[in-house]
Amino acid sequence: MNQVIDVLLKRRSVRAYEEKEISADIREEILKATLRAPTAGNMMLYSIVDVTDQKIKDRLAITCDDQPFIARAPMVWLFVADYQRWFDYFLASGVEEVCQQKQVPIRKPEEGDLFLACCDALIAAQNAVIAAESFGVGSCYIGDIMEQYEIHKELFDLPRYTFPICLLVFGYPTPEQLHRPYTKRFDKKFILFENQYHRLDPQELKEMFAEHESQMAKGQGREDIANFGQAMYFRKFDAEFSVEMSRSVRLILREWIS
Ligand SMILES: Cc1cc2nc3c(=O)[nH]c(=O)nc-3n(C[C@H](O)[C@H](O)[C@H](O)COP(=O)(O)O)c2cc1C
Repeated sequence: MNQVIDVLLKRRSVRAYEEKEISADIREEILKATLRAPTAGNMMLYSIVDVTDQKIKDRLAITCDDQPFIARAPMVWLFVADYQRWFDYFLASGVEEVCQQKQVPIRKPEEGDLFLACCDALIAAQNAVIAAESFGVGSCYIGDIMEQYEIHKELFDLPRYTFPICLLVFGYPTPEQLHRPYTKRFDKKFILFENQYHRLDPQELKEMFAEHESQMAKGQGREDIANFGQAMYFRKFDAEFSVEMSRSVRLILREWIS
């Protein structure tokens, strides 16, 4: 097996870290690999905020759905989907005046631009994850950065055409983290389709979740919840964090689109 595949297959999320700094050289290599990620139109529609201030890490550990390990990570990077830089550049380049001359309204960043910038930011983030992993540095995504928009906007001084799409925390894994069993993935037949999307029928859904269902039956179940689907609905989908995330994202969308 080649080394890249090896790194990809052995990666897992790391949430507990050794008290060991990540050297400046390794940080630089991770950054170099991050910035080489594919990017729409070669525009680099993202920014990275290297969070070095312990007070900000402490705050994020609370605002990102109370996840204390964020504060203990030696390296914390915020990935921001960013159209502000390009739109500012368009304005600085006299686009407004040209539009006036042509008597056409100036177009501002819209939904498609936001999604493209999110793609860019996330693809760069994943390069960072894999580059770090190749140095033995573990990482974990923090999706909860999309919550509490008002707080994060102020904390990072985010302008209108930006979107804090993910936070990555990095650190050397503790021995326990290295020996944690791998999380399982669903069988590829439920994920990979040929030529057309295939909507799973009830029988296929039963098959897809059979292992999870049987694990729950073996003692993970709760009395008020009958099956894995119900458990996940309340734990992930109709959870407080999830409702807050949607509220927060709606706010950001309004900023971009109004
Ligand atoms: C978009 C995204 C958001 C995530 N947010 C969190 C998070 O807030 N907290 C956390 O502990 N893990 C988070 N994770 C990590 C997942 O829980 C983890 O990838 C998943 O359970 C599979 O485990 P593995 O990465 O060890 O294979 C996130 C992962 C992704 C891709």
